[in-house]
Amino acid sequence: MDVVASAAPAAAGSAAPLIELRAVTKTYGSGSAAFQALRGVDLSIDAGDFVAVMGPSGSGKSTVMNILGCLDVPSRGSYLFHGVAVQRLTQDQRALLRRRHLGFVFQGFNLLPRTSAQENVELPLLYRGEAAAQRRAAAREALASVGLAGWEHHKPAELSGGQQQRVAIARALVTRPTVLLADEPTGNLDTQRGREIMELLAGLNHERHITVLMVTHEADMAAYARRVVRFVDGRVASDAVHGAPVDAAAGAAVAAVAAPGR
Ligand SMILES: Nc1ncnc2c1ncn2[C@@H]1O[C@H](COP(=O)(O)OP(=O)(O)OP(=O)(O)O)[C@@H](O)[C@H]1O
Ligand SMILES: [Mg+2]
Repeated sequence: MDVVASAAPAAAGSAAPLIELRAVTKTYGSGSAAFQALRGVDLSIDAGDFVAVMGPSGSGKSTVMNILGCLDVPSRGSYLFHGVAVQRLTQDQRALLRRRHLGFVFQGFNLLPRTSAQENVELPLLYRGEAAAQRRAAAREALASVGLAGWEHHKPAELSGGQQQRVAIARALVTRPTVLLADEPTGNLDTQRGREIMELLAGLNHERHITVLMVTHEADMAAYARRVVRFVDGRVASDAVHGAPVDAAAGAAVAAVAAPGR
């Protein structure tokens, strides 16, 4: 919790939720052109949660993800990470928080096109200043963990959409984040490829205890999450726990024991 702990040692080890938004608003533009994309969002997320964020287009889902990912700041209200007010951190501390604790996955994969899978995944470690040998080993491991051992030297154009998204997930994982933020990760994929990505995310949540927040428009994909938060007009309209999330990657054995005959 380095950067976070150093910012507020009193918060370390407390029972604060991992993530908390309190009365967060976001206004884009100013004057007569001002648009309020978030109108008072309260949201609390515990470590280990797997949350699907749903809602109509323009309801503020990406805006809230960008704030959670420290890519943007609220206009009003507060964002607490481990009980620490993110808006009180310096820009450098916020960047550290982002690099050490948060991983991103986007709908369009956002890979560098002329660069191999391996090099794409190494990139966050390069920014961190890690040595080449360590970068190589960590990237290979991350690629293997998303089922892409042997594909290290392929460039994005030589990979399917599902494989490209796996590379993007490996790139998010290589820094060992606490939280994975995914904005419509299956939006560019067919249903089968989408399911494979969801199984991968469910497995990361279950086995590595990574907290996952994922925006999706598809009920099939949201069904993997344990909780569904629905946005309407810049507010949380509903927040419901799923009784029995699809638990494919958590291991068929676990699912079979928990729900025989499913
Ligand atoms: N940089 C910006 N400048 C001005 N308005 C913006 C900006 N980003 C988003 N908006 C507006 O804020 C509102 C919420 O946008 P946001 O991208 O969060 O929606 P969303 O729920 O992610 O929608 P979608 O499902 O289409 O991705 C929209 O009306 C959008 O036009
Ligand atoms: Mg969006």
